[in-house]
Amino acid sequence: MAVKVLFVCLGNICRSPTAHGVFQHLVTQAGLQRAIYVDSAGTGDWHVGRSPDKRATQAAKQRGYDLSPLRARQFSAEDLQVFDYVLAMDQENLQGILALKSQPQRGHVGLFLQFAKNAEYKEVPDPYYGGSKGFERVLDLIESASHGLLEHLQKQQLT
Ligand code: 4NP
Repeated sequence: MAVKVLFVCLGNICRSPTAHGVFQHLVTQAGLQRAIYVDSAGTGDWHVGRSPDKRATQAAKQRGYDLSPLRARQFSAEDLQVFDYVLAMDQENLQGILALKSQPQRGHVGLFLQFAKNAEYKEVPDPYYGGSKGFERVLDLIESASHGLLEHLQKQQLT
């Protein structure tokens, strides 16, 4: 059985698809595609069915990550029963997730940056209304947390 990881932000067009693409890339590089299943969702429904934001797609592409196959979907209460790790980009996303919780969840629900080595940021800032620097910072934070999360999962599977 694969470990199932879900990344969650507000729109599922900037931060969580970036996390999805970056983490999937690391998982594939490590040959763990069958051991770790990756997905992403947004707590809001405004962008359901859309491709990731062009700025996020372009910034990710420059670092070698392909976000183009991804499409936005809305987070649902059922996700809490399906996924082993539900990882929010910020506190608002986390509150949105927990507001849908009616039964004990299946796995770990928390902030993604808990897995980052550099603890300066606790949340991935929303880049939607900002400039291109915001998307680079999103990538920096997500790359760091993705490495930490993969190490964490590898340790879990070994012990
Ligand atoms: P995301 O960014 O949550 O990282 O996908 C946003 C995308 C869209 C909106 C807000 C944040 N919006 O207000 O439409």
